[in-house]
Amino acid sequence: MLGFTYYTPTKVAFGKGSVERVGELMKQFGGTRVLIHYGGQSAVRSGVLDRVKKSLDEAGIFHVELGGVVPNPHLAKEREGIELSKANGVDFLLAVGGGSVIDSCKAIAYGLAEPEHDVWELYAGQRKAKACFPVASVLTIAAAGSEMSNSCVITNTDTEEKRAYDDDLARPKFAIMDPELTMTLPDYQTEAGCADIMMHTMERYFVNSGTMELTDALAEGLLRTVMHNAEVLHTDPRNYDARAEVMWASSLAHNGLTGCGSDGGDWMPHLLEHEMGGMFNVTHGASLAAVWPSWARYVYKDCLPRFVKYAVNVMGVTPGATDEETALAGIAAMEEQLALLPPESEQAQALAAQIAGMRTTYEEKSAELAFGKQQADAAAEKLAASAQTLAAGETALAAGRADYEAGRAEYEKNKASFDKGKAEGAEKLADAERAAETGRWMEGIQRRGDGCAGGY
Ligand code: NZQ
Ligand code: ZN
Repeated sequence: MLGFTYYTPTKVAFGKGSVERVGELMKQFGGTRVLIHYGGQSAVRSGVLDRVKKSLDEAGIFHVELGGVVPNPHLAKEREGIELSKANGVDFLLAVGGGSVIDSCKAIAYGLAEPEHDVWELYAGQRKAKACFPVASVLTIAAAGSEMSNSCVITNTDTEEKRAYDDDLARPKFAIMDPELTMTLPDYQTEAGCADIMMHTMERYFVNSGTMELTDALAEGLLRTVMHNAEVLHTDPRNYDARAEVMWASSLAHNGLTGCGSDGGDWMPHLLEHEMGGMFNVTHGASLAAVWPSWARYVYKDCLPRFVKYAVNVMGVTPGATDEETALAGIAAMEEQLALLPPESEQAQALAAQIAGMRTTYEEKSAELAFGKQQADAAAEKLAASAQTLAAGETALAAGRADYEAGRAEYEKNKASFDKGKAEGAEKLADAERAAETGRWMEGIQRRGDGCAGGY
């Protein structure tokens, strides 16, 4: 188990009719001039926007509004919100919507707190925020968990980059959660939201760092609860209790609770989704559902005990003959669960097809990567064998060179003694020749002497 800091400063007002408390809570947290930020049409159609405005009016709180936030919210809208807020002296940002609207509010809040800087610099990793205006939300979809999280995800459509910036400064002051508000959600968004909630829990569950029994139990219980109630809502979308269970799960899955005692995970499925969201504007939860099974099959061997625990405790798998078998059965069961996501419209079906295409590409790329790795391993093996042969050759060469040097030394030694012998021999020969010459000379004298002796 690792040490941790747990910080969840958001006040939660949960239950039927909690929307009517927005004026009271805004007063409590010091908001006097509020920007009400919302999405496309759902907040207007459902009447929640009017209820929010009425409550603020009753509390005597000034407000301006800005709608039009799209899923995977755009930087351009945040820039518009910053300018509008400056012009109206806004001191508090109120999101009426889901993750996209809350994140758009957080980005505006960062921009207002440090107007001398471009807000995108935070998402581009060029600086850290020093301040942030206060943010709160009236949640209308259970999914992203932004209502209590320190995270904010924005898309820059110019560069097709979807990037997150995480900082406790942006944790919302309060969150109003009335499960009834989510009853107007299309089934597709409800199920995509459930997928996202499960992903936030699983990103933190599959770790190789320390873990904690209590955190595991909370995470496993949360996953079982969301899976069960997602199925209930699939057939009974107006079931209040199921809506409430899922809504509270969305906050607990992403406020840090399920990461206590571990390193919090590497968030790879989310990082993959951000790339797809930035380029293809896919629904966040649906895109995660498409990516997760391929990711899980790619990594499960590196985290086997966790996948086995998850298969048994969350997916109810009976342990197989091997741990691998059990882990794979758990992944297959979750894949089946994620397939519950119903395509809602022609556009959703097109997106689902797009995601399926991306998944195939991802799997093909993974296979190519595996093949490339195999070839690289084989080449590395050959290289190692050649290096071994080279090393043996070098040893033999060194031995040969030593033999050669020894032979050469022997030769030099013999040559020196030969040269010495030759010089001595030459000297003796010269002596002998000189002696012979002397002998011949003496003999000549003798002969001449003998002749003279006869004549005298
Ligand atoms: O725009 P409107 O008309 O409101 O329609 C929305 C939108 O089309 C609709 N909707 C919301 N409440 C409704 C409703 N329709 C009918 N009745 C209601 N009561 O639902 C659609 C999706 O809304 P959105 O806010 O995009 O959903 P979600 O909460 O899933 O947010 C997704 C965004 O959050 C980011 C995602 O990347 C994505 O951009 N995330 C933010 C995180 C955070 N800040 O902590 C963490 C997450 O991992 C995630 O990355
Ligand atoms: Zn998410």
